[in-house]
Amino acid sequence: MDSILVRGGAELNGTIPISGAKNACLALMPAALLSDEPLTLTNAPRLSDIRTMTVLLESLGCEVARLQAGRVLVVGTERISNHTADYDIVRKMRASILVLGPMLARDGHAVVSLPGGCAIGARPVDLHLKGLEALGATLDLRDGYVHAEARGGLKGAVFEFPIVSVGGTENLLMAATLAKGTTVLKNAAREPEIVDLAECLRRMGARIEGDGTSEIIIEGVERLSGATHPVVADRIELGTYMLAPAIAGGRVELSGGRRDLVAAFCDKLEEAGVEIEETRSGLTVTRRNGRIRATDVVTAPHPGFPTDLQAQMMALLATADGVSHLEERIFENRFMHAPELARMGAEIDVQGGTARVTGVERLRGAPVMATDLRASVSLILAGLAAEGETRVSRVYHLDRGYEHVEEKLSACGARIERIGEAAE
Ligand code: UD1
Repeated sequence: MDSILVRGGAELNGTIPISGAKNACLALMPAALLSDEPLTLTNAPRLSDIRTMTVLLESLGCEVARLQAGRVLVVGTERISNHTADYDIVRKMRASILVLGPMLARDGHAVVSLPGGCAIGARPVDLHLKGLEALGATLDLRDGYVHAEARGGLKGAVFEFPIVSVGGTENLLMAATLAKGTTVLKNAAREPEIVDLAECLRRMGARIEGDGTSEIIIEGVERLSGATHPVVADRIELGTYMLAPAIAGGRVELSGGRRDLVAAFCDKLEEAGVEIEETRSGLTVTRRNGRIRATDVVTAPHPGFPTDLQAQMMALLATADGVSHLEERIFENRFMHAPELARMGAEIDVQGGTARVTGVERLRGAPVMATDLRASVSLILAGLAAEGETRVSRVYHLDRGYEHVEEKLSACGARIERIGEAAE
């Protein structure tokens, strides 16, 4: 299994290009199930999660062409030839549940394996299911699979999410595009990935209003057509790489970055003493002398501070001057990086959903283990500023969500390399 070796202490200077958003692309690809014409996605990221979604869609009868070395994906679904999303694929990635709404909307039936638990908490899909029932689907849970039917087609309805769910909003948004009549989604997620999906669906002919607000109104149409859509920039990759110079010092431009995608995160970074400038091609982050200031962070649905940047922010605050509190409100059990950071000398005390971080002057390199996608990158960030060598093992987590992390960071002067199994 590959690991990543980081030798800390090098300042970072240069430019990092931001890729298309993994989470947006994982919702856009299943949208292709809604039409018999091809959907072309440009600016697609090249990641193992995208390959997993490709395998899933191919298993349902889609043809997926990867052009320009995987930067462009063309997904064609002349017909769905298999309506069962198998456990072996779904268990690898929760986002697989996003094929349920589109298959049901197009053909009136679908069978999808339940994703099961995952490393960062229980993460049920009950809201996806309740929402589809509100649109008239009949659901039956058998042998770990959801058997869904809506033989006469889905029907528009008003559905209010009891808690904000990104995936739930995406599944219902897609399903409602082909439902009869009007659907109103209340307390909907407002993440940029939702807006991107709505934008793509509109290009396919869907009638959607209110995306980006907590009430989305969808007027069902008879059929959707093909379209070409550029995937929005990855705000989590952006935030992660903004933290690299913030932690290691230096000045890095994030090309393709936009402040509006990560506004709450930028506010916190500035509070901690990091400079952010908007440029013509993106954002520039500068950290000069002096310690980072301690600051408190509470994760929340967009436009709040993203849970997917909490682990990386903890790596920054581990060396701040003073005590910071990080409160995780989206997922239970999302502090698995804390004991690993502690192996590097960080002082972190986790009580329930809050981590109390007492900044230390310097972290020390250590062998550490990645436990999930965002945790793994937080350990790499910590390693950039630590004294000596940090070796992060189990980096397959990293490859699910970060494209060429070693190349992007070493181009700015970081001393980082991947060590393959053969070399170990
Ligand atoms: C998406 C992102 C993930 C991010 C998360 C929150 C993708 C592929 N993944 O995940 O990176 O961390 O948003 O920003 O886009 N919940 C329920 N029942 C449901 C659905 C969700 O109780 O049916 C709960 C979850 O357990 C969690 C909260 O709602 O506590 C938010 O989850 P949700 O927004 O649905 O996250 P995902 O779409 O899975």
